[in-house]
Amino acid sequence: MSDSLSESGFDLQQIDRLLTTTRAVRKRLDFERDVSDELLFECIDLAEQAPTGGNDASRRWIVIRDQSLKNQLGELYAEVGELFINARGRLEGTGHPKENVVTSSAYLVENFSKAPELVMCAIWGVHDNSGRPGLFDSAIPSAWSFNLALRSRGLGTAYATMLNNKPDEVAELLGIPHGVTTLVCFPVAYTLGNEFSPAPRRPASDITYFDQWGFTRTEPSVDGSARIQDGPGVVVEIDTEARPRAVWEVISDINMPAQFSNEFVGADWLTDGPIGVGSVFKGRNAIPEVRNWETDCIVTEWLERQVFEWRITDPAKPGAIWRFEIAEQGAGSRLRFSMTIGKENNGTAPRALQDPSLENEVLFERRLIHKANMQRVVEGVRDLVDGPA
Ligand SMILES: Cc1cc2nc3c(=O)[nH]c(=O)nc-3n(C[C@H](O)[C@H](O)[C@H](O)COP(=O)(O)O)c2cc1C
Repeated sequence: MSDSLSESGFDLQQIDRLLTTTRAVRKRLDFERDVSDELLFECIDLAEQAPTGGNDASRRWIVIRDQSLKNQLGELYAEVGELFINARGRLEGTGHPKENVVTSSAYLVENFSKAPELVMCAIWGVHDNSGRPGLFDSAIPSAWSFNLALRSRGLGTAYATMLNNKPDEVAELLGIPHGVTTLVCFPVAYTLGNEFSPAPRRPASDITYFDQWGFTRTEPSVDGSARIQDGPGVVVEIDTEARPRAVWEVISDINMPAQFSNEFVGADWLTDGPIGVGSVFKGRNAIPEVRNWETDCIVTEWLERQVFEWRITDPAKPGAIWRFEIAEQGAGSRLRFSMTIGKENNGTAPRALQDPSLENEVLFERRLIHKANMQRVVEGVRDLVDGPA
C-alpha cells in the first residue's frame, strides 16, 4: 500500500492534485483537437453524481457543436465580456494583482466560439428566493464536478457565467423553455499540457471561525477547545466605498483608527525616520477603573496600501499580533483587522492558563471584548473614509 492511501482507500496524492490544480483554463485550451461525445457523456455521468436538493433529478446539459450557434453565443458572450477587453487595456503590463485574470478572461471573450464545443449546465427551476432546495443551487455542485471530471481526463474549461446576463437571447437560440435556468456555459477542450499549479489562497486558519464569527486559531486545537498555545485570535472585516489608498492613509496613522477603541488612550512613534519594519511606537491603553498599561509596538510588516502589522512587547514572544490588511473589493476596499493573542507578555495568557478547565471560557470572554472594540475601529475607519452612512 502506498503511504498516501487514505483511511478510505483513496490515493491522496492524486486526489489532492486533482482538487488543487483544476484551474480556470483559457489560454491553454486546445482549439484544434476534437473532444468526443463519449468523453462528454462520461464526464456528465460523473458530474451527475453530485447532490441535488430532495434528490430531484432536474439538471440538464446542452452541448453546442454547431459552429453558427457557437458564433452567435460567442457574440453574446463578447457583448457582456467587453468589460474584460476594456480592463485589459488598462491593466496589461502593470503588474496589477488582477492583470492575469483580466488578460486571460479577455482572451476567452475573443475566442469563446473556437472551443470544439460549449457545454451548458441548466436546471428546471428559477431562483425565486423561496428558500426551497432543489432548484438553482442544485446545479452548482455538479457543474464543479464536471470541471474535475474534465481535468482528470486531460480536458479543461473555465467556469464562464457571463451568458447569464443574456438569458432570453440564449433561450431563443437554443430553444430552451420557460422555467429552465442556465447557469454556466463551459468552453470545453483538451488542455495544452497537463501541468497546472495550485492557486495562492488564504489558509484555512485565516478564514475558519470557531464558535463565534471571527474567532480564529492559528493552529489546530488538540481537543477542539480554544487554548493559548493554539494562537486564538479575532478577525473583523468591513467593506468601504473608498479605494485602498484612502483607507491606508487612515490606518497607517497610529492615532486615527485606534481612537475608536474603548481601550486606547494614545500612541507615539519612538523611532525617527520613515516608518517600516522595525519602527516602534508606544501605545497607551486603559480600562477605566481597572488598569492602565503601556506597550511597545514593533512594526513587523509594512506594505503601503496593503498591510500594517505590529507585535506588542517582543516580536519573538509577542503579547499580541495586530494586523490591518486592505484588499481591493469591487470598486472599493475590504479592510480586515485581526489580532492573535500571544502565549505570554499579556494579561490574558496567565488568566487563561491558571485553570485549564476555564481556558476556553477566558479566551471566549476576552475575545468578545476585543471583537467589539475592533468592530468599533473598522466602523470608525469606514465612516472616516466614506463619510457617515
Ligand atoms: C461563479 C463564477 C463565475 C465565473 N465567471 C467567469 C466568466 O464569466 N468568465 C471567465 O472567464 N471566468 C469566470 N470564472 C472563473 C474565475 O475567473 C476563476 O475561477 C478565478 O479567476 C480563479 O482562477 P482559478 O479557478 O484558476 O483558481 C468564474 C468563476 C466562478 C466561480
